[in-house]
Amino acid sequence: MFLGLDLGTSSVKVIVINDDGEISSKSSQSLSLSSPNPLWNEQSPSDWLEAAETAILKIPKNIRSKLKGMGLSGQMHGAVLLDKKERPIRPAILWNDGRSFEECKELEKKLPNLNKITGNQIMPGFTSPKIEWVRKYEKENFSAIQKILLPKDYLRLKWSGEFATDTSDASGTMWLNTKKRSWSNDALEISGISSQQLPELFEGNQITGKISKSSSKKLGIPMIPIVAGAGDQAAGAIGSSVINPDDASLVLGTSGVIFLVTDGFLPNLKQGIHAFCHTVPRTWHQMAVILSAASAIDWCANLVGYDYPAKAYKAAEKKGDSENIMFLPYLNGERTPHNNPHASAALFGLKSNTNRASIIHAALEGVAFALSDGYKALVEGGGKCNTISVIGGGSQSTYWGKIIANCLNKTLVYRDGSETGPAKGAAILAQSGVTGKDLESLCKPSPIIEVIEPEKNYTELYHAKIKKWQLLYQETKNLNQ
Ligand code: XUL
Repeated sequence: MFLGLDLGTSSVKVIVINDDGEISSKSSQSLSLSSPNPLWNEQSPSDWLEAAETAILKIPKNIRSKLKGMGLSGQMHGAVLLDKKERPIRPAILWNDGRSFEECKELEKKLPNLNKITGNQIMPGFTSPKIEWVRKYEKENFSAIQKILLPKDYLRLKWSGEFATDTSDASGTMWLNTKKRSWSNDALEISGISSQQLPELFEGNQITGKISKSSSKKLGIPMIPIVAGAGDQAAGAIGSSVINPDDASLVLGTSGVIFLVTDGFLPNLKQGIHAFCHTVPRTWHQMAVILSAASAIDWCANLVGYDYPAKAYKAAEKKGDSENIMFLPYLNGERTPHNNPHASAALFGLKSNTNRASIIHAALEGVAFALSDGYKALVEGGGKCNTISVIGGGSQSTYWGKIIANCLNKTLVYRDGSETGPAKGAAILAQSGVTGKDLESLCKPSPIIEVIEPEKNYTELYHAKIKKWQLLYQETKNLNQ
């Protein structure tokens, strides 16, 4: 049996698969987020560790004792800064934190070909501008930095003592030469750090070390090998068998991501498209990332007083209409296509008789419109994709899927266990690393449970509505700065 752990933003999820790749057990433990200032999003690494250990201990003892390997996946880009005793210096600055916009410009100025090295436009969500922010505003913290880690790799350090990461997660730091899959000395130099401060790089299914004696005792698991694992997006792609060129997935989690496997390394430096290493060795992918997806629906549901998001989804489906209300979902700024941390959310078109179900319907549409902007950016850059597999918590609502399929004018495929994405991918990476089997043979697509085709009438209707919605952003984007 193999354990996959996904360190998400709202929860830690754990999945155990057996030797045939079937899910034997799963558990989760929720996490909270702190936003002490506008544009800031932070979490404490010790909270991650506690939640991850609690989630593992929720797996039945007899399953834990049969484990043969572990894989880690997690929220990408977060900056975990450790002192010489390997203690966190400050809370981790997360992927959806927009404070370092100015620092992006400064780093670009220092190294004008940074985007060529990394294959990406630098954005505040990525790791290196966050460190630049710490260097500028928290000088003491900066000089105390001994090690910099990505979120999931902090768990690895605690459980195995190894200082390691994988190439898919490292792609989001802006210190990686993404084509060569190695740290770039030029990119490190402008950040004032050395490669000794960064973890050793591995491919996703390579073993980085094993669970220490003390962690083995604490977690009730054998001293099993841990593989490098992957950033949550690449791990989710493995979990849903998105591994060949033109395979695509749509992740509806806290963020919303269209993930597309490319034929080689194909950077597209426009409109905030990311070009990162995939976790299948020698492969790469592109992605369009919107910062608020299912999280925006949950936020609206809470705002208008639904005690449970599922009730809000149901009410919107029953209503079947947004009554011309429009919602911009930019609660944490936006990456693709705007690269604008100052973008903000808006609800437009409210009337005295507007009810809360219409607002939720508008939110479902607003996120779908933002995804269609991201999809358009991918296509305009030459991206082609086959059908799109939907994964993440938002895949529970196929009504939302219908809206998205119509906005993208694309077929969406739902597979059994689609909500389990990244943790399952991490478990498969562990299985591959421990057994030596290649990922191609282990990534077996789960049975299709639903296929949603776009419907011509709605596609045309949404095409017109998206144009108006885009105008709403363009006309209001400078008002809140
Ligand atoms: C990807 C990204 C997000 C986080 C969320 O670039 O920032 O998807 O990984 O979990």
